Amino acid sequence: MSSKNGQIKEFNRIRVLPLVLFYFALLYGILKTVFYVLSLVNKGEITMAGSTFGTLFKISTWGESHGEGIGVVVDGCPAGIPIDEDYIQSFLDRRKPGQSEFTTMRNEADKVKIMSGVFERKTTGTPISLQILNTSQISKDYSNIMDVYRPGHADFGFESKFGIRDYRGGGRSSGRETAARVAAGAIAIKMLSYLGVEFTTYVKSVGEIEIDYSKFDKDEIMRNKLYMPDKEAAEKAGRYLESLIEAKDSSGAVVELKCTGLPVGLGEPVFEKLDARLAEAIFSIGAVKGFEIGDGFKAAASKGSENNDPFRIKDGKVVKETNHSGGILGGISDGGDLVLRAAFKPTPSIYQKQHTVNNKGEEVDIEIKGRHDPIVAPRAVVVVEAMTALVIADLLLQNCTSKMDNVLKIYSCN
Ligand SMILES: Cc1cc2nc3c(=O)[nH]c(=O)nc-3n(C[C@H](O)[C@H](O)[C@H](O)COP(=O)(O)O)c2cc1C
Repeated sequence: MSSKNGQIKEFNRIRVLPLVLFYFALLYGILKTVFYVLSLVNKGEITMAGSTFGTLFKISTWGESHGEGIGVVVDGCPAGIPIDEDYIQSFLDRRKPGQSEFTTMRNEADKVKIMSGVFERKTTGTPISLQILNTSQISKDYSNIMDVYRPGHADFGFESKFGIRDYRGGGRSSGRETAARVAAGAIAIKMLSYLGVEFTTYVKSVGEIEIDYSKFDKDEIMRNKLYMPDKEAAEKAGRYLESLIEAKDSSGAVVELKCTGLPVGLGEPVFEKLDARLAEAIFSIGAVKGFEIGDGFKAAASKGSENNDPFRIKDGKVVKETNHSGGILGGISDGGDLVLRAAFKPTPSIYQKQHTVNNKGEEVDIEIKGRHDPIVAPRAVVVVEAMTALVIADLLLQNCTSKMDNVLKIYSCN
C-alpha cells in the first residue's frame, strides 16, 4: 500500500514539474517584455501618454487648463531659423481667448517665453522649450462638475481611463492645450517659409452659413471676428451666433486651409502618407469630427472622368489642370495646392440645463459655469494651420533621405 502511495506521489511530481517549468517560463517572458518596453520608454522610443507628435520635427506638449501653465518642447528643428518671442506671439494672439463676444471671456494673455533652443534670435538645433503661464484660472467655476460628466465633453472618458480627473477647465482635454501646438507650429511655419510654402486658413462655414467664393477676400480674414474671408457671410454668421448665445447654445463650423508652394514628393508610403499624417494631426484637435482632402466626401458622388486631374507640361514642369485631389496623390504631395477641411462640432459646454450622470452612478441635471467659447472654430483656425505645418515640416525633413541624389546634395558630393 505504502509503495503504491509512493508511486502516486512520484507520478504527481513528474506531472507537476513541467507545469511549474511552464509557469516559470511564462513569468520570465512577461517580465522580460515589461523590462524591454520600459527600456524603450526610457530611451524615448515609446511615449506613454500620447503627448508627442512627429518623427524628425518632433513636439511634446505639456500642461493643463488650470495648472501652472502649458508648454511645448520642439526637438529636431534645424539650426539657423530666425525666431523670437514676438514672432511666436503673433500666432498665439490669433488663438488667444477674449478676442470678441464669440470667444471665451477667459482673460489669458497667452504670453510665450522661450526657455531654451534659441540663441541670438536663431534656433540652435537643440530642444526648443516654450512656456505659456496660466494667469486667469477661476477653478471654483468648475466645482459643480467635479463629480459630474459634462455631455459631449471628455470627462467620462478621462475618469474611466485614469481613475482621476483634473476637472478644472477640462484639464488636459481643454482647448487650452492647443496654444502649445500653435507656438510650435509657428516655428514650423517659419521654416517652411524659406521654401516658399504659405498658408491661408479661415472659417468656411458657421452652422448652415457658408462663404461665397465669388466674394473671397483674403484680407477680410483678419478683419472680422470669425476669421471668414467673406464679409457678408461673417456678418450673417455673427448674427446667428448672437442668437445662439442668447439661447445658451453653441455652433459647429468648418475650417478650410489652402497651402501653396508645397514641394512635390512629401509623404512616406504606406503608413506615413501625407494625407494619413494630416488626418491624424487634425483629428487630434479637440472637437474635430470630420476631415477632408480636396473634394473629400464630394468625390464619392463624382465620376472618374470628373475627379481625375489631367496632367500637362507647363514651362517644362508637370502640372495638373484641376485639383480635385487637393494636392495629394498616392499619399505624396503632387505639386498642386494642398486643400483640407476640418469639421468642428458645437462647443459641448453650453449654459442650458442638461441631463447627465455623476460618478456615483446617479442621474442628475447640471448647469455648466465657467467661460466657454460659443463656437470653437475661429480660435481653432490657427491650430489647424499649426498642425498642418508641423506635419509638412516633419515630412519635409524625412524626404531628404528619400534618394541618394538628395544625400549627395546634402553633403555637397556632386
Ligand atoms: C481652440 C479650442 C477651444 C475650445 N474651447 C472649448 C470651450 O470653451 N468649452 C468646451 O466645452 N469645449 C471647448 N473645446 C472643445 C473641447 O476641447 C472638446 O470638445 C473636448 O475635449 C471633447 O473632445 P471631442 O469633442 O474631440 O470628443 C475647445 C477646443 C478647441 C480646439
